[in-house]
Order: sequence, then structure tokens, then C-alpha cells
Amino acid sequence: MVEKTKKILITGGRGMLGAALSKTLSSFYAITAIDKEECDITNAVAVKKFFSDKTFDAVVHCAAYTNVDKAEDEPELALLINAQGTQNLVTATCTHDCLFVHISTDYVFDGTKEAPYTEGDRPHPLSIYGATKLKGEYSVQTHPRGTIIRTSWLFGPGGNNFVRTILSLARQKDTLSVVNDQMGSPTYTMHLADALREILKIYFSKGLAYGVYHVTNSGVCSWYAFAREVVKNANLSTRVLPTTSAQYIRKAKRPQNSALSNEKFYALTGRYLPPWQTAVAQYMEKDMHE
Ligand SMILES: NC(=O)c1ccc[n+]([C@@H]2O[C@H](COP(=O)([O-])OP(=O)(O)OC[C@H]3O[C@@H](n4cnc5c(N)ncnc54)[C@H](OP(=O)(O)O)[C@@H]3O)[C@@H](O)[C@H]2O)c1
Repeated sequence: MVEKTKKILITGGRGMLGAALSKTLSSFYAITAIDKEECDITNAVAVKKFFSDKTFDAVVHCAAYTNVDKAEDEPELALLINAQGTQNLVTATCTHDCLFVHISTDYVFDGTKEAPYTEGDRPHPLSIYGATKLKGEYSVQTHPRGTIIRTSWLFGPGGNNFVRTILSLARQKDTLSVVNDQMGSPTYTMHLADALREILKIYFSKGLAYGVYHVTNSGVCSWYAFAREVVKNANLSTRVLPTTSAQYIRKAKRPQNSALSNEKFYALTGRYLPPWQTAVAQYMEKDMHE
């Protein structure tokens, strides 16, 4: 009950993760969800003005330039939103008594490690998107209560995501080819929202060790295995065939292995998020049509 008095700001509130987070957190906290319309984070003056008459107990920063391939053609815009936009929010809130939770990505890594990446591993992005998100992380590290949550391969209600794309293609085609040489962890926005709620709860009740946490659904797969799971859940007879990144050229280079170790999150909360297969089934059964 006491928690309901806590004020949380969510940036990117109408984006895929921001919407899931607003839905989950609104049962517990007073939520303000904003997007570009309410405050363009790239405009330092607008950001300063926005915070001039408001305070929040926590900011969860989900707003970002998220089109990984397009970022290769628009590096300045990606940098402006992901790095400068984040810096503007950090500058405006660093003197407030406010937790700053920044959502970041597995694409800060180059994918050459054979085991899941831990929070201590050195980032080395392969793409403009990954590089601009990493610059955002550097700003957050200067915030006295800065916390970075790296996640991966998001899907959830209201977003254009891999599950939707595969489902739509599988309904139109007899055969699909999907890359089998990039490994990662699909993550359901509603499950990530539960994890963020847990992190906020711990922060408000006993404080938090600020820093970096990796949070994804459990288990690791390739995009090919992910696609097969989607087709199976939809009871479609479409054949899914494995292909390689070399055969499926995209503008932005992706890491071959971007699995993230969730052990630090487990040490904090005592739990792992559900397996990615459970997450896909739950999304497709319940929430996909929202
Ligand atoms: N999607 C993934 O697979 C994935 C994986 C790992 C990490 N992440 C990270 O998770 C976070 C959420 O991702 P998502 O997929 O939910 O993103 P999304 O659906 O693309 O939403 C991004 C939001 O940011 C807002 N935004 C963009 N430019 C802005 C600006 N200048 N000022 C204010 N708001 C602005 C967008 O608003 P408009 O629509 O009005 O522009 C949109 O609501 C991001 O930080 C992303 O980097 C995503």
C-alpha cells in the first residue's frame, strides 16, 4: 500500500516494453508514461523544463532508437536519441533522489564469447545501434543511482516483433529460412516488466546495489529454433529451414552469441524468469492480440 505513493516515470511509454511496464507497474505505483509528444528526450531544454516542476522516485528509461538495421543509415539520429537523449535525462535527474533504470541490450557485445555474457564482460558492439546504446550506458554510470538492465530479443503485446513477423510469414508461405548461427534469449516484455517491478520493490524496501544486471527469459536458442517454436504454437505446417548469417545478409552485423547470464539477477531476487518457450506460448495464447 505504501508503495502506491511512489512515483515512477516511464520513458518510451507507448513503445513495446514501455507499454508492458506501464500496465504491470500501474497496480503498484503512481505511473507517468511519456513519449516524444510529451517530452522529446533529445531536446535538453525540453527535458530540463519537464523535470523543473516534477520529481519521481524512479525513472525507467525505455525510450530509444530501436531499428537495428536502419541505424546503420541514420547513425547521427541513433546517437542523438540513444546517447544524447539518455545523457539529457541523466543530467536532469542526477541531483534528484531518484533511481535511474536504463534499459540496454545484448547488442553491446560482439558475440565471440562461447558462454553467456556476464555483467563484468567487456562490451564491444558490432553495430551502430549497439554502440549508441553503450554510449547511453556510459552516461547512466555517472548517475548516483544509475542501474542498467541489459535484455535481449524482446517480444510482447503492441510491438512489431519476431513472433508477429514469423507468424505472418508462416501464414503466407510453405517454407521459411531462418538463421541458425546467432544464439540468444527471447524475452517476453510482460516477464521483463515483472522483473523490473521486483527490482523496484527491492530498491524501495531495502535499497539496491546500483550497477548492471542482465535480465532475460531462461534458456538460449537460435532465431531458427525461436521461429520453429512460434510455428509449432500456431499449429501451422510451414517448414522452417535453418540458414546462416552469411546467406541472410542484413545491414547491421549481429553477435553470434548474445546469451546473457542472469546469475546476478538471481542473486538479487532469488529467481529466474520462466523459460523462453513458456514465454512464447503465454504470449501467443493470451496477449498477442492486445
Ligand atoms: N526490441 C528489442 O528486441 C530489444 C532488445 C534489447 C533491448 N531493447 C531495449 O529495450 C528498450 C525498449 O525497446 P522497445 O522494443 O520496447 O522499443 P520501441 O517499441 O521501439 O519503443 C521505443 C520508444 O521510444 C520512444 N522514443 C523514440 N525517440 C524518442 C525521443 N526522441 N523522445 C522520446 N521518446 C522517444 C518511441 O516513441 P515514438 O514511437 O513516438 O518515436 C517509442 O515509444 C529500448 O531501450 C531498447 O533499446 C530492445
